[in-house]
Amino acid sequence: MSSPEQQLLDLSAQLLQAIDAGNWDAYTKLCDPRISCFEPEAEGHLVVGLPFHKFYFDLPPSGRKQLSSISSPHVEVIGDVGLVYYVRLVQKTTDAGPITVSSNETRVWKREGGTWRHIHFHRSPC
Ligand code: GLY
Repeated sequence: MSSPEQQLLDLSAQLLQAIDAGNWDAYTKLCDPRISCFEPEAEGHLVVGLPFHKFYFDLPPSGRKQLSSISSPHVEVIGDVGLVYYVRLVQKTTDAGPITVSSNETRVWKREGGTWRHIHFHRSPC
């Protein structure tokens, strides 16, 4: 059995893989239905719940590739709450060729009945 810190890092990587692949089922399995977030797409507003995120998963396939990597991670476990901070590097293809975009991300997880659920995140461009 891996440490809670390693579990949270693995879950965060799985979450980013689900986003990159547009895999809504995998994404929702990791998230609490009342997940909250601040992210650039929300224009500075706090968003609660999954429907805001589903919009992006439901977009037609663009044929473009995207690969997220976790850089410089830091993980803290405080009781049944886990905090994962890192720089997210997103390599993606565009009409002008491949680019890399970086963001600071904080992912908050809560352990319920032995299972970690993603309950909040904050993403800011670097
Ligand atoms: N925009 C969805 C996520 O970063 O979890």
